[in-house]
Amino acid sequence: MDLAANSTLPARYYYEPEIYAKEETRIFQRNWFCVGRGSDVPNAGDYIVRRVGGESVVVLRGEDGAVRAFFNVCPHRGNRLCPNEQGHLKGRSVICGYHGWTFALDGRLVGTPKMASTEGFDRNAHGMRGMAVHEWQGFVFVNMDEKPAPFTPNLGNIGSRLHAYNMGHLVAAHRKSYDAKANWKLVVENFTECFHCPSVHPELCDIIPGFRSGIIQQENPGGAVYVEGGNSMTFTARTNRPLISTIEKEDEGCFRSTTVYPNLLLVMVPDHVESYTLWPRGPKETTIVFEWLFEPETIARADFDCSDTVAFADTVNRQDWTICEQVQEGVQSRAYQSGFYSAQEHLPRKFNQWVLEQLG
Ligand code: FES
Ligand SMILES: [Fe+2]
Repeated sequence: MDLAANSTLPARYYYEPEIYAKEETRIFQRNWFCVGRGSDVPNAGDYIVRRVGGESVVVLRGEDGAVRAFFNVCPHRGNRLCPNEQGHLKGRSVICGYHGWTFALDGRLVGTPKMASTEGFDRNAHGMRGMAVHEWQGFVFVNMDEKPAPFTPNLGNIGSRLHAYNMGHLVAAHRKSYDAKANWKLVVENFTECFHCPSVHPELCDIIPGFRSGIIQQENPGGAVYVEGGNSMTFTARTNRPLISTIEKEDEGCFRSTTVYPNLLLVMVPDHVESYTLWPRGPKETTIVFEWLFEPETIARADFDCSDTVAFADTVNRQDWTICEQVQEGVQSRAYQSGFYSAQEHLPRKFNQWVLEQLG
């Protein structure tokens, strides 16, 4: 194996502010970036505000039911239009809190106090500046590029089984947010290999014994296999919850995962789906929002309880963030310039190649 062709990214890619600034403009602003679920803004006038590539973005649902995204900036003198993280827009309009410019939910400028006498002022030219939005499997993605590339997630062969989980229909029964003192790429790289599973995740290897070999199966449509009778991410691998109603025989007892670059990681199991949305906060910090998604019919059951899978995933997640934080410290050492991937780490290598392509 050619060692040079299998080297990791240089260490500085994990801590230098200049590299991170380049990632903000070339990766987070130019690619389709997951900002949440459509169900985060269920009704017309509902909005969320998210930070993407150093920009504040308002995602809202319009009168016509469509989800739109805008830069959170007033075209008059630059005030933040929506200062809160989420809410409902009263009167179904966005009203700037500085001088009262008012925008319809589709971004059109509809009210401009005292501008009537300003010569040459054309309301139509001063709406909220929008960006491209794409909804996929219930997730909302935004893209700030003027000419965004088509949304084509690179899912490998696993794409052929995604329909089994009917993700657009699922809703979050539980959400947990983690702050990891680690570069976002370390989190992605860690998610895309299982070489670390035997040493970092003993509980995970107990329920999916194949992970003891360190082989991730992330691009294998067959996925990884639970212990006999296993169907969920719990300490016993078992659950009393109904399985997702659309899964088929070949999905039972199966663990699948996939990565939608740059910031959505998915785990699909027979009774639910788990999503990680990564929020890079700087070169050395990442917030990870983790959601447990179930069919609404399952959540509505009187006996619904997901505390077993919340406890299990929380254990595995904390193991991962701890190791990512240790790596973050290590790669900043003067003793480390870059490392090497083994054959089992082909997906982190693929991700690194993607990162380098994006950064040009
Ligand atoms: S800055 Fe928004 S109305 Fe003046
Ligand atoms: Fe892990």
